[in-house]
Amino acid sequence: MAGTRPNFMKVSPIISELGRVGASAVLVHTGQHYDQSMSAAFFEDLALHPPHYQLEVGSGTHALQTAKVMERFEPVILAERPRWVVVVGDVNSTLAAALVTAKLRDEVGSRLAHVEAGLRSNDWRMPEEINRVLTDRVSDLLLTPSRDARANLIREGLEADAIVFVGNVMIDSLFSHLDSARQLCVAKSLGVDGPYAVTTLHRPSNVDNRDSLQTVLAGLSRIQETMPVIFPIHPRTRKNIEEFGLNSLVDCITLTEPLGYKAMLSLTDGASIVLTDSGGLQEETSALRIPCVTLREQTERPVTLAQGSNTLVPWPMSALGILETFEKALSTKCDLPPIEGWDGHAARRIVEALLAR
Ligand code: UD1
Repeated sequence: MAGTRPNFMKVSPIISELGRVGASAVLVHTGQHYDQSMSAAFFEDLALHPPHYQLEVGSGTHALQTAKVMERFEPVILAERPRWVVVVGDVNSTLAAALVTAKLRDEVGSRLAHVEAGLRSNDWRMPEEINRVLTDRVSDLLLTPSRDARANLIREGLEADAIVFVGNVMIDSLFSHLDSARQLCVAKSLGVDGPYAVTTLHRPSNVDNRDSLQTVLAGLSRIQETMPVIFPIHPRTRKNIEEFGLNSLVDCITLTEPLGYKAMLSLTDGASIVLTDSGGLQEETSALRIPCVTLREQTERPVTLAQGSNTLVPWPMSALGILETFEKALSTKCDLPPIEGWDGHAARRIVEALLAR
C-alpha cells in the first residue's frame, strides 16, 4: 500500500524483491498524492508497476483523507484476502490501511506488517507521530529501520517477538538509482554552477504558520547571500508563501516545481549541504554523506545525528540560528561511518521476514 511521494521509493524495492522470490504482490495507491510531480513521476522514475488499485482519495482534512482511504481500502482487502498487508512510513494513508487491516484480521486472515516501525519524535503535535504510534500498535510485524526503534516499541509494551530489524528500504532505492540520477546534472540545467545548497519544506509546523514560515525563509535568504539555494517547492508551501505575502523572501532563491525521484536525487547528490524538514532527506543525505541541517525541533531519526551527517537547528528557530548552523554544518567531514542496515539490502530482509511467518 502506498499513498504519498515518500512511500513510492519504499514500496518499489519490496515489490521487486517479492517478484524475485516468486511471491505475488498487489499494489494499492490511495491517491493521497495525485499530481504528476508528486506521484506519476515517481512511478516512471522507479519503473514501478502501475497500481492494481487506485483509490483516488485526493486532498482533504485529516479525518476526510483517513476516512476515505478506510472506506475504499476495505473492499480491496475483502476481495484480495492477502496473507500480508504491508504499509510503509507514517502518512495518513498508512494509518488508514492499518486500521482497516487490523479490524478485518480475523475475518479475512490478513496480517499487518509496518515498514519503518518504531520511529518516534515524541511530538504529538505532528500528525505523523499519531500515525506511527497507532500503526505500530495494531501491527503484527514491526520492521524497524534502525536499532533505536526497537527500544521505542518495547517501551510502549509491544511484543519483542514481533520486532525485526531490517534496515532502511529507502536506501535500497537510492543505491539502485544513484548512477542514472548522476547523469541528469539537474543543478546545471537550472543554471547553477559550483557549490549550492538544497532546501525543502513542507511540515505544517514550518509552513502553515506565517511567523514560522517567515523565519525559515529569512534564514534561507541569508544563506543565499553566500551560496545559491535551490528550492523544489511542495504545493502546500507554495500556496502558503503566496497566501502570507512572503514572495519577496524567495525572490533570489532558485525555485522549482517538486522534482521527480531521480532529479531530486541528482540535486541532493551534487549539493554541498541540504536544509530540510523532510524525514526522507535526512536519511538520503546520511547515505550520501552530505551535511544536512534539519529545520525542526527534534527528529525521529536520531541515528542520522549520531552518525554525524545531520544537525538540528537550535530551537526556537531564528534566521541567525539557521545561518550559523548552516556555516558549521558545511565543514562536516565526509568520511562518516555507514549506518547499520542502510546498505541496499533492506527489501531482501523485509521479504525474508514476511515469508518466515
Ligand atoms: C504528506 C504526509 C507527510 C509527508 C508528505 C510528503 C500526512 C499527515 N502527511 O504531507 O508525512 O512527509 O506527505 O509530501 O499524511 N497537494 C497537491 N498535489 C498533490 C498532493 C498534495 O497539490 O499531489 C497539496 C494539496 O493542496 C494538499 C496539500 O498539498 O492539501 C497537502 O497534501 P497532504 O497529502 O494533505 O499532506 P502533505 O503536506 O503532502
